[in-house]
Parts: sequence; C-alpha cells; structure tokens
Amino acid sequence: MQREHWGSRFGFIMAAAGSAVGLGNIWKFPYLAGSEGGGAFLIIYLAMVATIGLSAMIAEIAIGRYAQLDPIGAFKKTGGGPWVIFGILAILTPFLILSFYSVVGGWTIAYIVKSFALMFGGGSGVGHEDQFNQLVSSPVEPIIYHALFMGLSMVIVLKGVTDGIEKASKILMPLLFVLLLVLVVRSLTLPNAMAGVKFLLEPDFSKVNSNMISAALGQAFFSLSLGMGALITYGSYVAKDSNIRTSAGWILSLDTVVAVLAGLMIMPAVFSFGMDPGAGPGLTFITLPAIFESMPAGALFQALFFIMLTIAAVTSSISLLNIPVAWLCDEKGMSRSAATILVSVVTFALGVPSSLAMGVWGDVQFFGMNFFELLSYLTDTYALPLGGIGSCLVAGWIGYGKIGREVTNDGALPFALLPVWKWICRIVAPIAILWIVATMTNLA
Ligand code: PHE
Repeated sequence: MQREHWGSRFGFIMAAAGSAVGLGNIWKFPYLAGSEGGGAFLIIYLAMVATIGLSAMIAEIAIGRYAQLDPIGAFKKTGGGPWVIFGILAILTPFLILSFYSVVGGWTIAYIVKSFALMFGGGSGVGHEDQFNQLVSSPVEPIIYHALFMGLSMVIVLKGVTDGIEKASKILMPLLFVLLLVLVVRSLTLPNAMAGVKFLLEPDFSKVNSNMISAALGQAFFSLSLGMGALITYGSYVAKDSNIRTSAGWILSLDTVVAVLAGLMIMPAVFSFGMDPGAGPGLTFITLPAIFESMPAGALFQALFFIMLTIAAVTSSISLLNIPVAWLCDEKGMSRSAATILVSVVTFALGVPSSLAMGVWGDVQFFGMNFFELLSYLTDTYALPLGGIGSCLVAGWIGYGKIGREVTNDGALPFALLPVWKWICRIVAPIAILWIVATMTNLA
C-alpha cells in the first residue's frame, strides 16, 4: 500500500504545530514561568528552543522523512543495530504519556461542561479548589471524561492522516489562535494588567540556577513534542521536495508564540486579581476559574478558555496516538482502524490508575509519588530526554550521511549552518541533555 502523505505543506505545519501546542504550552508553561522566576526563565527557555530544540526537531523530521516509516522502522533504517532501542522507546513512551495526558484532557472537557452550567446559572456553590479536588478525586466522573477525550482522539486518528489528522488540525489550530487572541486582549485590558506583563517579561537573573535551566530544557522537549516518535512519524508523511528547515522553523515559532501568549493571557489576569503567580499546576484549574468568576461575562470567557485548552490537548493527543498506530500498520501489517482501536483501548486502560491516583488510589505510592506523578516523572525526566539523545546521535553520527542529505534535499537546498547543526546533534545536545537528566535525578 502506498504511504499516505500530507495534502499540503500548510497541512503538515498545522498538524505538527497542533502536536507541539498543547497542555504543555497553556497549562504547564505559564505555571513554570510563574514559579521559576518569570522573565529569566523565559530567556533561558527561548535559548534552549532556538538551539537544541530546533536542531533536534530538524533531526526528527528528517529521520522520519528519510525512512518513510514509523519510529522503529526509521531507527532500523538510519542507525540499525542497538540504535533500534530508541525506536522501541519512541513507541512505548507515547502509551505512557498519552495515558495521563488524556486524563488531564478529560478534566478540560469537564470544565467546558461546568462553564456552560455556570452560564445558565448552575453554579455549584463550592469553592474553586474544592470543586477541582472533587472532580479529580471522584472514582467515576473523571474516568468518563477521560474516555470521552480518548474517544475524540480515536475518531480523528481512525480517519487517517489527511482526512483525519490534517483536516482536524487545519480547522482547529486557526480556531485556537483566534480564541487565544480574544483571551489575551481581555486579560491585557484588565486593571493592573501591566504588572503581569512585567513579571513575565522582566528578567531577574538572580533566579537562574541549574534546576531552572534543566526545567527549561525539559519543558522545551515536552512542548516541542520532541524525544519520542511524534515528529519522526509526522515527518514520514512529508513530501520529499519540501524544506524541512523552514517547516521546523514555523512549527517551533508557532509553539513558542503560543506559550508566550498563554503567559500573556494568564499572568495579567493573575496580577489584576491579586492571585499567586507561583500557584503551580492548579493555576489553570483553580486560579483561572476564580478569576473568571469575578469578571464581567466570566462564564463565557471561561467556556472559551477551556474549549481552547481542549483543542490544544486533542491536536497533541492525536499525534501521540498515531505513533504506535503507525508502527502497527507499517511493521505488523494491521489495518489503521484495528490499530487505532487497539492502541486507544490499551491507553485508556493505562490511564485509569492515573485518574484513580488523584483520589481513592492516592495512597498507592512509588518512590513517594502516586501513579500519575510517577508516569509524568519517568517520561519527563528519562524517556523524552533519552529519546531526544537517540535522534540527535543517529542524525549526527551513524546516520549523518543519509540524514544530512535529507535535510538539504540532496544538496538542492544549501544550508550554510549544516556543520553547526551537525555538531549540536553530535555533541552539544547529547551532553546538555545528559546533564539535565543527572540534575533532575538528584532532585527526586
Ligand atoms: N507538545 C505537547 C504539549 O505541549 C505534548 C506532546 C509531547 C505531544 C510529545 C506529543 C508528543 O502539550
């Protein structure tokens, strides 16, 4: 069977930006920036994205396009031998990430429902923190929403690369930008909004330390969807004559702009209402609803916000779901429908303990973490960084002959910075990533 390809370059960029723009940008980035020193974190994050992030992204897309295969097939074809381990890692990690990502995706849907209830006067009368805790710790409700979120992703992936993933991304991503801009304008026009802008943009270099730098690189990998098979797989559907570097530039810029805009949406509101910018993971689900409540037409803005967050999460989850699906189709000869249903069901089941870990199974601890935290910790700290090292090493060393040519379309697109890219892949990125894994391990 002929491999499916993206219908257009725009379609590919929207799908890949859809993968990159997700909960990582809108939920995680603002709270990390909030707790890690605002502007100084932003500058370090941008530096990581522009160097290691960009190089790894070019490497992953090129590996995928060269091989025209799923990640295991791609590592076999570009590296072979023990390098295939990175391919296996790239197929396993999405199961782990998607399982808890979908639980959080389910919360975002639950909050859309809550916002509509609010609009029609159905407030719950409970404080925002209690409301959130009640939702996530319930044994049934969040699992139903998790199933809904997983089901939504499954329906899109079932339809295939062009008719499912590409089409959905081409509609949803522009919609996400419009919603985001509306919310940024609303937030920037609140009283005392500038204090939030100042916090986000004004660097305080006394806050810089090794933990913050490693958090910035970890966040860059997660946010850019690097370090697992997502972009290798999406790269395998890219047309041979398109320019990988400019596409990577677009994807990366869109992802970064959305993260900064999400900060500019959240921080001014937080400062305007005298909330704590360092509130951590609860910023989105507890602090924001409290802010919306005190705003005119707040329920409407809250609904728009959670619709946007759900869109961001779905366009990322489909890229995760598609990785093992591509492997089952490419290497195991399964049909796309059977593969999609199988992967969705397995990931849903794996997500159930993550959801229960917020409530009834909260006491089941592994190294002092509940199941949800354990998965998130293992993937953030080890799986994604190691996956990233794999792509960089293969592109920079053993597969350089093939991948270097792929990046320049066999020399048709001159790339003056090719040696810089090569050495970042060979040495700079792997060492930086190893250093980060080491720092994060100390933290645990
Ligand atoms: N980049 C996504 C986000 O920011 C998460 C993701 C990671 C998606 C890896 C796919 C692959 O939320």
